[in-house]
Amino acid sequence: MAVSVAQRIARALRGKPTLVLGLPTGRTPLNLYRELARLTAAGQADFSRASTFNLDEFLGLAAAHPGSYRSYMERHLFTHVNLQPDRIHLLDGNARDPLRECEHYERAIREAGGIDLQLLGIGANGHIGFNEPGPSVSARTHRTRLHPETRRANAMLFGGDWRKVPREALSVGVGTILRAREIILLATGRDKAACIQRMVYGPVTPRVPASFLQLHSNVRLVLDATAGASVRGPTRRRPRR
Ligand code: PGA
Repeated sequence: MAVSVAQRIARALRGKPTLVLGLPTGRTPLNLYRELARLTAAGQADFSRASTFNLDEFLGLAAAHPGSYRSYMERHLFTHVNLQPDRIHLLDGNARDPLRECEHYERAIREAGGIDLQLLGIGANGHIGFNEPGPSVSARTHRTRLHPETRRANAMLFGGDWRKVPREALSVGVGTILRAREIILLATGRDKAACIQRMVYGPVTPRVPASFLQLHSNVRLVLDATAGASVRGPTRRRPRR
């Protein structure tokens, strides 16, 4: 999975050196980021003119906090590829005025020409970015409350103690994600199978924010066998003898 998606990104960078990438955090993209570092070292991926926008960040954490998504990105990608620091964008979880920060982020994405290629993970509860299941979804970048299961899933960034995971975050909106020209969602593991099934075959509903991806015309799902266990392709006819 990591190799094929990394090669897709390297190809996109060759086609458009000023590519604007949307980036996720979490466990799922770790191998992909390792592979992008390898391709960069091998001279097969060039990020020197590319821009990146991360999906989300915890509220109330300084960028340098080891649990911040900024720190995660530095650790796993930014220190290993040749991105220019001024073309790396993350929401500032420590912004004095979070709402202004969200508006500023939307503007920055627009001014960069919009997201060309949005990479996504998915929460076991069906979230994308920090767009959590609920009675509605936000179209634009916004401040949000994290569900307890999302805080538990992030405990590894806070010494294994989920109570240390911030209760709130900033996240791009579902509309922000849907405006990307191309979307690639990665998922691995049995605990993602049910939400993948609901994302692909269920109704479009804020109870499964990822289901809104059904409204986009250029989404690719890259799944391992366990995450994709409930996804059946079109039934094949037996070849006639
Ligand atoms: P994970 O997180 O990659 O750690 O499973 C994915 C997500 O919550 O979007």
